[in-house]
Amino acid sequence: MKTLCVNLGKASYPIHIGPDLLQQPQWILPHLAQPTAVIVTNTTVGPLYVSTLQGTLSQAGVHTLVITLPDGEAHKTRTALNQIHDDMLAHRCERKTTVIALGGGVIGDVAGFAAATYLRGIPLIQIPTTLLAQVDSSVGGKTGINHPLGKNLLGAFHQPALVLADTSTLDTLPEREFRSGVAEIIKYGLIRDLPFLHWLDQHLDALMARHPETLAQAIERSCSNKAEVVAEDEFETTGARALLNLGHTFGHAIETGAGYGVWLHGEAVAAGTLLAADLSHRLGWLAHADLALIEALMRRAGLPLQAPNLGPERYLELMASDKKVAAGAIRYVLLERLGQAKLTAQVDPALVQQILTPGRGRFISQTSTLGPAPESLV
Ligand code: NAD
Ligand code: GLY
Repeated sequence: MKTLCVNLGKASYPIHIGPDLLQQPQWILPHLAQPTAVIVTNTTVGPLYVSTLQGTLSQAGVHTLVITLPDGEAHKTRTALNQIHDDMLAHRCERKTTVIALGGGVIGDVAGFAAATYLRGIPLIQIPTTLLAQVDSSVGGKTGINHPLGKNLLGAFHQPALVLADTSTLDTLPEREFRSGVAEIIKYGLIRDLPFLHWLDQHLDALMARHPETLAQAIERSCSNKAEVVAEDEFETTGARALLNLGHTFGHAIETGAGYGVWLHGEAVAAGTLLAADLSHRLGWLAHADLALIEALMRRAGLPLQAPNLGPERYLELMASDKKVAAGAIRYVLLERLGQAKLTAQVDPALVQQILTPGRGRFISQTSTLGPAPESLV
């Protein structure tokens, strides 16, 4: 097992990464303020892992309530949030009750938001069970739900007391979901860790084959990157944390525009990253060879290489709801070079129009299909 730390002064917390952690109460118990917890999960993850976690906790004398939400991005809504709050109130959960989010990023975000708002904020533990959640969403305290007008527009910063990434849970993760997580891993290399990008280029095939040592290294290096950024800019005020949003301005527009759940988050981030890379290339920042390397990584990871053709106007309309918009201007995370990202609003609108126009943009689909390409759906 490997332990990393998110350094936030008194609010610092560990990230434990390793196999079979759900069976080991010693990692969770020190972080419970009292021996009661609410496990929030969904109809897919619950049947796989709740009984193990509940068994581990009950043997240690911890009483648990389980709240099971419907599965899917389409359920990252006020309705799900209400269900958690209603059940917790009905069971008289208290300020020292801990919410344990057991699932992927959707469960982590919505359960985290419930913990942030219940009785003005109660303790939270993240137990991520997707690759994406283990390398990204469980770390850093961003919680929230979607709105019909845009992704994650309602939420709060609420740091967990612990992140427990049990890598054994990835054994049951479907291939398409695994690929989606790889998009966020590639992101860290692109925005701030060139040696990791080169490592990924060398080890991507082993990673896609889920070679245990390679997978563990990729998760650890990703979490270490994320922890450093969060420690530097917890509330996304200095611009450092915003760089984690490479591909997300376009990606969130894809997810909202196609309908929540049609594109997986990581798939939309992959296509959005290619659009951002194309824009960076047209600004003269990225060389043609750099663009080719990013495209090759996405291809080898089985991720979509073409964003859906929503039309430039619809993209711009959706991106106008992005949380990074400042003084009405869309701010893009672009790549000055491989391993170095930059947040900027200084982008010629004509270039944005070009990359989003079929036949002109290299990574925009020529067809009118809204879903990701079939080869990325295996
Ligand atoms: P997800 O939570 O929908 O999980 C993907 C699918 O895998 C679901 O069907 C889920 O039930 C299933 N699943 C989860 N664990 C499993 C397991 N071990 N075995 C079998 N099936 C399993 O999606 P995700 O990719 O984990 O997360 C995407 C969400 O995370 C998006 O809503 C995105 O906005 C959010 N996100 C948040 C942050 C953040 O910082 N808070 C960062 C990145 C992404
Ligand atoms: N996933 C982006 C962030 O946590 O800031």
